[in-house]
Amino acid sequence: MRFVIAAFLLPSLATSALALDVVFPDCDAPPTLDPSPRLPEHVSWVDPRLRGGRMLDVVGSLRTGEPLNVIISGQSHPDVLSHVGFIAYARTIGFSNECLGLHMGLVQLADLGDGIGLRGEQLLVRQTFRRHIPFWGTTCWESFAGGNHFRAWKQNGTLANTGAWFLAVSAEESGSKHHAIIPDGYNIGRDLLVSRAVAEDNEEWKATVDWVQGLMEPGSKGINHRIPVDGLVAVLTVRKRNEDEKKPWRSLWTLLRFLLPFLPL
Ligand SMILES: *[C@@H]1O[C@H](CO)[C@@H](O)[C@H](O)[C@H]1NC(C)=O
Repeated sequence: MRFVIAAFLLPSLATSALALDVVFPDCDAPPTLDPSPRLPEHVSWVDPRLRGGRMLDVVGSLRTGEPLNVIISGQSHPDVLSHVGFIAYARTIGFSNECLGLHMGLVQLADLGDGIGLRGEQLLVRQTFRRHIPFWGTTCWESFAGGNHFRAWKQNGTLANTGAWFLAVSAEESGSKHHAIIPDGYNIGRDLLVSRAVAEDNEEWKATVDWVQGLMEPGSKGINHRIPVDGLVAVLTVRKRNEDEKKPWRSLWTLLRFLLPFLPL
C-alpha cells in the first residue's frame, strides 16, 4: 500500500523539483565550478555537489539519506547505461528487479546535480540467490534471508548528461527483522557489489574499479539509521568481454555437462 501511494506522489514531486532546480547560487558554489553547463565529451560522471546535488539520497526528510556509494561510470558500455540493459547487467552480478514492493518502504529521492533536481529512484533491485540455489532460488528468497539491494538514479539531466548511474547500495537483515540495514551495511553492501562486478566468472561483462575519496564525509552524520560509512565511493567502468577473452574451457564444460547423461560411462 505504501508503495502504491509513493507511485502517485512521485510525478508531482518531480514536477515541483523541476520548477525550482535551475537556480544554483554562485556563493555556495565551489571555486572549481565552470559556469558553462556544457561538458567536455566523454565525461565519466560529475560530482553532484558541483551543481547543487549531494552524494546522499533523501529518505523521508532532507536531513537523512543513504550514501550513493557506487557509480557506474558513463564510460561503461552503452547497454549497461540504458535502463533495460542495466537491469540485464545487474542480473549477471546477482541482482534482480523481480519481487519488488516487498517491505521496501518509501521511494527515496536523489539530486545528482544534473539540473533535474530531486527525483525518485529509477531502479530498485535486490540480490538474488539463483546462483546459489539452482532451479529454486529467486529474489523473493532474499526477503527472508536478508541480503543486498540497491536503488539507482541516472545522471542524465542537461547540466551533467554523463549517463552514469549512481547507486545507493546496502546490505540488510532478514525479513523477520523488518529489513533493517545491518551494522556497517552500506560499506558491506558496496563491497559485495564491487566484488561481483570485478569477478572473473562473469562471462559477458568485466568491470574495473576506482575508489574515490572525498565525495562524502566518513562517519554517520546525516546517514540513515546513523550507520557509519567509510566515505569511499566505488566507480565501476563496465566493459563487454571480447570473444577471445571468454574462457574456452568454460564453454567446453557447458558442453560436457550437457553431454554427460548421454555418455556410456
Ligand atoms: C534519463 O534516464 C532515465 C532512466 O533511465 C529515463 O527514464 C529518462 O527518460 C532519461 N532522460 C532523458 C532526458 O534521457
